[in-house]
Amino acid sequence: MTDTQPKKVLIAVAWPYATGPLHLGHIGGAYLPSDIYARFRRSLGDDVLMVSGSDVHGTPITVKADELGWDPQEIVDKYHPEFLSYWRDLEIDFDLFTTTGTDTHKRVVQDFFLKLLENGYLYTQTSEQYFDDEAGRFLPDRYVEGTCPHCGYVDARGDQCDNCGKTLDPTDLIDPKSKLTGSTPVLRETEHYYWKLSAFNEPLLEWLTTREGWRPHVVNFAVGMVDGGLHDRAFTRDLDWGIPIPVDDLGPGKSIYVWWEAVMGYLSAPQEWAEKQGTPDAWKAWWEDPEAESYYFVGKDNIPFHAVYWPALIMGHGGLNLPTDVPANQYVTFGGAKASTSRGVGRPLGWYLDRFEPDSLRYAIAQAFPESNDSELTDGEIVRRINDELVATWGNLVNRVVSMTNRYFDGVVPQPGVLSEADDTALASRTATLQDVSDLLGDVKLRAGIARAMAGAQEANAYLSDLAPWTTAKTDMERTGTTLWVALQMIAGNAVALSPYLPRTSRKVLEALGSQVTGRAPVWEAPEVSSGMKLGELGPLFAKVEVAQFDVGQVDATDAEIEVRT
Ligand code: MF3
Ligand code: ZN
Repeated sequence: MTDTQPKKVLIAVAWPYATGPLHLGHIGGAYLPSDIYARFRRSLGDDVLMVSGSDVHGTPITVKADELGWDPQEIVDKYHPEFLSYWRDLEIDFDLFTTTGTDTHKRVVQDFFLKLLENGYLYTQTSEQYFDDEAGRFLPDRYVEGTCPHCGYVDARGDQCDNCGKTLDPTDLIDPKSKLTGSTPVLRETEHYYWKLSAFNEPLLEWLTTREGWRPHVVNFAVGMVDGGLHDRAFTRDLDWGIPIPVDDLGPGKSIYVWWEAVMGYLSAPQEWAEKQGTPDAWKAWWEDPEAESYYFVGKDNIPFHAVYWPALIMGHGGLNLPTDVPANQYVTFGGAKASTSRGVGRPLGWYLDRFEPDSLRYAIAQAFPESNDSELTDGEIVRRINDELVATWGNLVNRVVSMTNRYFDGVVPQPGVLSEADDTALASRTATLQDVSDLLGDVKLRAGIARAMAGAQEANAYLSDLAPWTTAKTDMERTGTTLWVALQMIAGNAVALSPYLPRTSRKVLEALGSQVTGRAPVWEAPEVSSGMKLGELGPLFAKVEVAQFDVGQVDATDAEIEVRT
């Protein structure tokens, strides 16, 4: 990253369905990676806009509402505030986390529809869709379940197969059943808008095959889809719960398909943000200036929508930026299974937030980011990472150096004497750590980035062991002062390197060491810890986690108890 001009960077994060609590799979898949990357770009001085919101339409919401006997809006009103509380607790720092239920979203989506219509990419067509005779209703998307025609998975839903990730149409399913009555649905004619997706096969292929630096699993999946030849897709559904089409030639009861509408949130949320700022055109700097960058943080099952369909919609609209990168993650697994609220695998996030400090949890999850493969994250692994790595390596380093400075120098940063080769090497390693972490983060290799930052902490620990200031303190205060001065510089640099991952505690460390963090993220450079400065108060950074009664690796140990010793 040699370019120092500040860039407009859109951080676009998958919009979670407001149908239930989130779990660690969501956090490890999209929300924490996006926040880490956003913080890093803010540290570089870039103009970051990080947006997402609750996905509130479509059959995922209505099916759930039917199950509970609630109104769809009641479901949204329960879970949307819960999502906001997760972001607050975990310090996921959105510029805007809205919903697809806003007036702005509706306007942007309807305008987008009209633009596609005007550009010749929408047409009406009568087709046969499933209908439930008993319920007297059409059965879009998740109202039909059956066997996946691609992989044979028996619990596939009418919109997508959870096993192979292929997007589906209800009529693709083998042995389809109505979710409403369990009956076998019948085909009935209905008229819909169709999207001329087939027109984008070539431009998409051309675009996808020339992406540089994208994760191979993302490009491969997307190219595989397009290579197979994309067919036109229905743009609307026979469903009331959604955004109505802005033309009245199909009669009432037609909504835009939730996925086509939800991805447009990446365009509407910046507009809502700009309106709220009182600068309604400000969003254009992120969307219309070709120099602007956009990163889409999503889980593997969302690749079709972000690397294929959304780019095709953008192409069909014209005048808007295509994604710079879609660094999709694979799955976080628990006992080998993908976490899933609806399937009861993995605990809800609140369980973890009640037991772990936010930075500790962020640390353990980041060390297990499934960037190139699925990755297993058991409770035992979380505890081990916190206690044996975060507390033992980084927390103890900071505490030792600060308490020795307190003990030997009354908490005042000592004046260094002549620097030895070991001191110079240590100071150089501080710079190298920041540079390496920066390179990795720039490539969205966030898991390698945190490992490299922790290696920096280990180097500082090794320096301390070699120079043993607790021994030299008995005979040579000048040498001891130099060692602690060097160690404090290393810690300050390392706190910056860790700051995207551990925002709260890194800020505490930097402030205790005399750096005022004024913006939302510290400047990406090693701050100078000035001699003569009195260190601020700094208690233990992280609590060690005590496992009272805990079955390591067990997925469903809901009554297991983890206590945090404070
Ligand atoms: N709600 C979808 C899910 O949870 C994700 C939507 S991302 C969006 O899988 F971009 F389409 F909004
Ligand atoms: Zn399948």
